[in-house]
Amino acid sequence: MASDYLAMTKKFITTMDKTEHQNLSNTIREVHEKLRKSFHLTQDLNKVWQEHIKEEDLRKKYSQAMMKLATEIWVGKDCRIEWSYRACMNFFYHGGLEKFLAREKKIKELSIIKGKETPGISDDTRQNNFDFSTKRQLKLLDIGSCYNPFSKFSEFSCVAIDLTPATKDVLPCDFLQAEIHMKSNAEVINDSKLTFFEESFDIVVMSLVLEYLPAAEQRAIFCFKAWQLLQLYGLCIIITPDSKSLHHNAPMMKSWKTAFEKIGFKRVKYEKLTHLHCMAFCKMYMTSSVDISSCKSLSDLLYIPQDFKCYADDDLPIERSEEECQSLYEQFSELPNEV
Ligand SMILES: C[S@@+](CC[C@H](N)C(=O)[O-])C[C@H]1O[C@@H](n2cnc3c(N)ncnc32)[C@H](O)[C@@H]1O
Repeated sequence: MASDYLAMTKKFITTMDKTEHQNLSNTIREVHEKLRKSFHLTQDLNKVWQEHIKEEDLRKKYSQAMMKLATEIWVGKDCRIEWSYRACMNFFYHGGLEKFLAREKKIKELSIIKGKETPGISDDTRQNNFDFSTKRQLKLLDIGSCYNPFSKFSEFSCVAIDLTPATKDVLPCDFLQAEIHMKSNAEVINDSKLTFFEESFDIVVMSLVLEYLPAAEQRAIFCFKAWQLLQLYGLCIIITPDSKSLHHNAPMMKSWKTAFEKIGFKRVKYEKLTHLHCMAFCKMYMTSSVDISSCKSLSDLLYIPQDFKCYADDDLPIERSEEECQSLYEQFSELPNEV
């Protein structure tokens, strides 16, 4: 009898949870879809973004929904955070960076021997001041942080920023508008606002953020600025949702890799979890083949499947096939247990 009650209670909670999952997931999905639809119909990115900035209540609802999903609801809720943490620890503390650089050196020597050294971004002889022997605290910038999930790790000194922070320890900032200043100006710029300087972080994280942005051009701006903010051999962590199989969106991941290489990164690690692509890119070069004004040239590369969706110019609810509904539900209502 007692166990019957327990089973019923569990069943009741599960049903409640599922409804809540759906409501919270819908809030997230609706914001993403609204932005994409407005951009698709108007093609006026500035106007779409400015209007979104004015929608404070909607953004606050989104950030609270996101924090609740991520901290209370998702199965395996921290797997992307744990994955990012381990990638950083392996790279900076457990010999990953040294191994990576040794491998890159070998590849370079081989391509010189074969006469295949490709021109392009110039090699950089500057050395990062990272000391391999001491495990100093790593400076981490979490862009689109929402609730500062990396603050629990003592190895990181975190700066968490978000357009709409869900918690007080996250600084309000629209990263699209953020100016990155030259290091040499650090002493003259004495601004009380949040000020960013190039090469000031070991790690930049963008977890479930790039797909919030309705245009590939905006994603390119994020990735380029992340590169500017990193020190040489710093790590950029990218997490993006995808419930499809490993190979289904492989061309997209290859395309993202090309975009990151054009900026001046090299991919160090890639893993497909059940609902996520997890990537780590190392800043390999101090010069880039793009700059902030030519980021648009990366737009064709930094696409997501939703960019190709067609929207009708009316307010009718968007009808989805059963397969689409299932995929959306899986993306936003649950994250995997396995890491
Ligand atoms: C899906 S949440 C991801 C939260 C967190 N990174 C995680 O993995 O749980 C996306 C976040 O990106 C933020 N965001 C979107 N555009 C932004 C911008 N231009 N500047 C800063 N944050 C932004 C949103 O406010 C939102 O909190």
